Amino acid sequence: MSDTTPSAVEPFDAVDVIRTKRDGGRIDEGALRWMIDAFTRGYVADAQMAAFAMAVLLNGMERDEIRVMTDAMIASGERMSFAGLGKPTVDKHSTGGVGDKITLPLAPLVAAFGVAVPQLSGRGLGHTGGTLDKLESIPGWRAALSNDEMTAQLRDVGAVICAAGSGLAPADKRLYALRDVTGTVEAIPLIASSIMSKKIAEGTDALVLDVKFGSGAFMRDFDRARELARTMVELGTDSGVRTTALLTDMDAPLGLAIGNANEVRESVEVLAGGGPADVVELTVALAREMLALAGRPDADVEGALRDGRAMDAWRRMILAQDGDPDAPLPVAAETHTVVAPRDGYVMRLDAYGFGVAAWRLGAGRARAEDPVLHSAGIDLHAKPGDRVSAGQPLFTIGGPDDTRFARALDSLEGAWELGDAAPERTPLVRERIASTS
Ligand code: URA
Repeated sequence: MSDTTPSAVEPFDAVDVIRTKRDGGRIDEGALRWMIDAFTRGYVADAQMAAFAMAVLLNGMERDEIRVMTDAMIASGERMSFAGLGKPTVDKHSTGGVGDKITLPLAPLVAAFGVAVPQLSGRGLGHTGGTLDKLESIPGWRAALSNDEMTAQLRDVGAVICAAGSGLAPADKRLYALRDVTGTVEAIPLIASSIMSKKIAEGTDALVLDVKFGSGAFMRDFDRARELARTMVELGTDSGVRTTALLTDMDAPLGLAIGNANEVRESVEVLAGGGPADVVELTVALAREMLALAGRPDADVEGALRDGRAMDAWRRMILAQDGDPDAPLPVAAETHTVVAPRDGYVMRLDAYGFGVAAWRLGAGRARAEDPVLHSAGIDLHAKPGDRVSAGQPLFTIGGPDDTRFARALDSLEGAWELGDAAPERTPLVRERIASTS
């Protein structure tokens, strides 16, 4: 009789792990690391992982479990390092919103102070836009860079905004796809470990999180957004990444442009020392946070927007990725303007309604493989708190043709409101979260 090699014996059982979490228990480190690894290898089935995700959604996880889960997802793929750059690295992550183009002026602004900003970004899905989609409105601009190109650009220019490669946290990619179809996206431990596994694997020294709340945010409720922010700040800190978060209002769209090319145009206005007040305020607030974490708390951020240093860094960043910063951006061939039916104050512009309308115009995509229309979007002519007169333009929708206008206008029904008294102003940056440990 010949010897046979026994198949490897798995050290844990997925059903035990699921039952423990289902009954409100704590998963031991070894079992949790195994669960993620075995899922990535295909040994733990999708149905089992989905049941586990639901148990986490219902019963939560302790801080230590979230740290182990994040660590296991990082270990499923490559881990980048910019240790040889000779300058500090700091990144920003936004949980996503409508008109949120802040990364575009922010990355070159921070880089203007000699700090490296490795910004691995994504594409838009649903009503929130994607940074790469916006930048691809610039003729020639290229999102895909090799790790070597990224490192060279960080050294020479200081700022890189590019596509995240598939090698970072592949376990998260599989798990996210499963959560998407099993009603388990909303679990804070899963969101936090998903976002932070990719950010920590990216190898940044420091990270500033822009966690949004309000109608256009992924996490609408302020208290839940705060819990998510705290969880992510703890995770970053536990992993040796200096991390802070700002909780920012996403009830109304940011700035006046919602789309792709129009958001690039608005970002360039900010880099030229102008632009809408809310976009400037948030860009400056996030830049201060990033520079403080990078050891430059006294940097004159507004000065770099005024005197062209940030604009110089932007031009070099776009050129390094084969984009032409002087090329004309796509403009909408067809437009339709909605005017105020009476005198009054703009009480409300609902970020979610405007986000869905821009998406229906073609600025966003319904499936990951769909293309976006770069000229499609919405330009606002007034913001909440502004006084308008009857007949004054409120906003303009646009795109390459008018075939999508009716559906976009449908989603704007009830998404804006005029009133007789000015609405109460609420702060854009509601709270700052730093680690307490
Ligand atoms: N973004 C992510 O990367 N992961 C989540 O779980 C939610 C938002």
